[in-house]
Amino acid sequence: MKHAHDEMNMPGLQGKDTTENEVDDLKTIFNNHQQIIRKVENISNGVITTTQTQDEQLRAALVSHVVAMVARLEEKRDPKIIIQSPTLDILFAHSDVINTQISMTELGIVVTQTSANQSVVKALQTHAAEVSDMAKRGMEAVHERMSN
Ligand code: HEM
Repeated sequence: MKHAHDEMNMPGLQGKDTTENEVDDLKTIFNNHQQIIRKVENISNGVITTTQTQDEQLRAALVSHVVAMVARLEEKRDPKIIIQSPTLDILFAHSDVINTQISMTELGIVVTQTSANQSVVKALQTHAAEVSDMAKRGMEAVHERMSN
């Protein structure tokens, strides 16, 4: 039998301002979250995250998600997705003092985000930990955060 979350309807992924591709990427990511291998390194001025997978389709969705979301961050176009973390509000409010660099690996993507503002550094590190929790536990992590 399939896991209850496989291919389920996920209305919480719709945003006030999201494209179909962005929602599809999130569905692919949540439906296959167990195939994600993620490493986060906190550095004094930010975070270095490595997110990878052997699964080609998942990797394509992941890379597309990161590229689209980092572009949104830089342009302050908050997707306002129902389930999104409040930590994102802090990042969108201060995106002018966040420096983001992306590089590809054979199996995924490395994102380095830094800031000269220590409270923004904290928010970047909190967000990276939230992404790791979602990668590990999928929707369960989201529901737990939203019920607190
Ligand atoms: C299992 C679920 C998810 C995974 C694996 C994932 C993956 C990622 C990754 C790898 C990044 C780059 C920053 C980092 O590595 O920490 C990122 C950034 C971002 N994600 Fe997700 N994400 C997930 C869920 C979501 C959800 C539900 C939203 C809802 C809006 C979202 C919105 C964003 C935004 C706005 C950014 C840009 C913020 C930044 O770069 O600091 N993500 N995501």
